[in-house]
Amino acid sequence: MIVPLKLMSSNTTKMCVVLGVTGGIAVYKACEILRLLQKQGIDVYVVMTKNACKFVSPLTFETLSGHPVAVDTFERPATWEVEHIALAKRADLFLIAPATANIIGKMACGIADDMLSTTVMATRAPIMLAPAMNTGMWDNPATQQNLQTLASRGVHIVSPANGYLACGDTGAGKLEDVAVIAQRAMEVLFAKRDLEGVRVMVTAGPTREAIDPVRYISNRSSGKMGYAIARAAQMRGADVTLLTGPVSLSAPQGVRVVPFTTTQDLLDAALEYADAQDIIIQAAAPADYRAKEIAGQKIKKKDGEDMVLRLVENPDVAATIGKKKREDQVFVGFAAETNDVTAHAQGKLMKKNLDMIVANDVTAPGAGFDVNTNIVTLMTRDAMRTLPLMSKDDVAGCILDAVVSLRNEKNLKHP
Ligand code: CTP
Repeated sequence: MIVPLKLMSSNTTKMCVVLGVTGGIAVYKACEILRLLQKQGIDVYVVMTKNACKFVSPLTFETLSGHPVAVDTFERPATWEVEHIALAKRADLFLIAPATANIIGKMACGIADDMLSTTVMATRAPIMLAPAMNTGMWDNPATQQNLQTLASRGVHIVSPANGYLACGDTGAGKLEDVAVIAQRAMEVLFAKRDLEGVRVMVTAGPTREAIDPVRYISNRSSGKMGYAIARAAQMRGADVTLLTGPVSLSAPQGVRVVPFTTTQDLLDAALEYADAQDIIIQAAAPADYRAKEIAGQKIKKKDGEDMVLRLVENPDVAATIGKKKREDQVFVGFAAETNDVTAHAQGKLMKKNLDMIVANDVTAPGAGFDVNTNIVTLMTRDAMRTLPLMSKDDVAGCILDAVVSLRNEKNLKHP
């Protein structure tokens, strides 16, 4: 269901969606999206690629939107002249529907060679893509990788539906239902900004403890959960510092990134930044032990003999931060468990002086390492709530909702 118009106060200036339309048979459905958004009181400006114009005339979009349609940076008629930077700035949301494999590839690689790609590159507004293409193009690893890159930068993707496609194939690639796209657009337009100006530090990913110049001790943390929290906090208006271990994810745009390798590095960075924060979320997976001695040369195999590696304990970063935590800070940790989940998590909550712990059974299907979903229990000192299986992005949203409640309980005001 579409977010109702009454959510907008009557004296607010109209929200603006810049609708990018790229060339595919689904172009005609963009007209319907435009109308659905207008019915919700949204002002829509349209930017089309040259190929999109082969399917539907710019005149159709110009008539429907009541605004000139921007087509090409150099060849547009003077009367349609719309400065692409002005359009990029005007957008409260930049929605591209349908989005072809071509525009997805260009955005992932930072190519700006026409009106649409330059405008979307210049915008600071949230971006949403509703892809539509042939199944083979959708399944192509290049397309999937490009989408992952864009998603990790905070671009919202409305995945295509399965169905009978114009090319005669059946499978994924059909533009999602226009009502669903309009609904998702409305959700982003009216997303919460309840962390405006609040300083949030998120730690994410594994540490690496060297054994010799070619080997290290690490763990299976992918960093996905921490990155999802950083992205969600940034979208809600927070000033985000992301301390990150070695992961293969791109950091969300606009976030301060501080890399770390070892647990000691993480501790040093966390101590440097912790004091300035309102919220600290320790989602990293630091190694509890490191090699007592790091060999200067590659350790050679000794045939037939066991290998003994002596390890020494690393500092507990969360416990150290917990000791220094001020009353006006909210501190959240994670507990990755394989058994007795809540009992272990409760123990860590107290021991590390956390305000909340996010406990998960990493052996449960759909939870834990390197998957895009999670099943978690949010535990504070006096309450506990288990969330159903959901995407890590949705888990991130629920964690931040709980953090905002904790801040309200502590009577903490926004800066
Ligand atoms: N943590 C930390 N420093 C460490 C180990 C863990 O800051 N050296 C943090 C993690 O980031 C997490 C919380 O403490 O937020 C719990 O981590 P976890 O690995 O579940 O627990 P441990 O305290 O390491 O205990 P154990 O490994 O025995 O379960």
